[in-house]
Amino acid sequence: MSLSPRFLALLAAEGIEALRVLDVGCGTGRLTLWLAPRVKHVVGVDRDSAAIQEARRLASAMRLSNVEFHEVDVEREEYGRWQPDLVTAHLCVSDAIIERAGRALAPGQCLAMVAIHVEQWKETGRVSRFAYDEARIEGALRIHGFAPEVIEVEREVTRFASVEEGLAAAVGLEDRWRVDGRWFRYIAFLEEGGRTLTRAHLIVKARRS
Ligand SMILES: C[S@@+](CC[C@H](N)C(=O)[O-])C[C@H]1O[C@@H](n2cnc3c(N)ncnc32)[C@H](O)[C@@H]1O
Repeated sequence: MSLSPRFLALLAAEGIEALRVLDVGCGTGRLTLWLAPRVKHVVGVDRDSAAIQEARRLASAMRLSNVEFHEVDVEREEYGRWQPDLVTAHLCVSDAIIERAGRALAPGQCLAMVAIHVEQWKETGRVSRFAYDEARIEGALRIHGFAPEVIEVEREVTRFASVEEGLAAAVGLEDRWRVDGRWFRYIAFLEEGGRTLTRAHLIVKARRS
């Protein structure tokens, strides 16, 4: 999945050139490395040491000097030490993360996130424990001191003509879905005549009150 153009446009509209950004749950740095040439400084944090090593390698290959990556549990550690003016979280969103962003940001500063929406892969009959609907994300933001400015669902429903096309649409997901039981529920959905696969994310921008 590529980065959502709508999400990137919302970030750019913040006037980010002079900002210090903290990218929470950065993985291999997909968003962090997009941000680096566009901001003053960016820190990517993730608990996956292999992902952090790969992110560092990519940043070095891109000759970026204003980016750093650290191995951190973002649901346990506080963010203040990086003094962010903006916090981003791309497909790594939880109440604990919103709470920590609320403590690290000053009034007027922004939290921008892409979260899994509850309709993501609804054909598998299982909602991710990281998924939010609009009301729940708004509630979490308000509790932790944010005024939501944008909460939008980006939804993409792929439709197919046959079971085979449905299986092909889920290629790359099978291993993960086999582990948690979603694969067999998806097969049952296809066998019962289901012919869709839904991807759904929440695009969120909120300002610290
Ligand atoms: C779906 S990936 C998204 C990675 C990246 N933001 C991107 O969009 O490519 C979720 C990431 O969140 C990280 N993550 C999940 N829980 C975490 C935690 N408690 N502390 C640090 N990282 C966490 C995972 O290691 C993983 O790299």
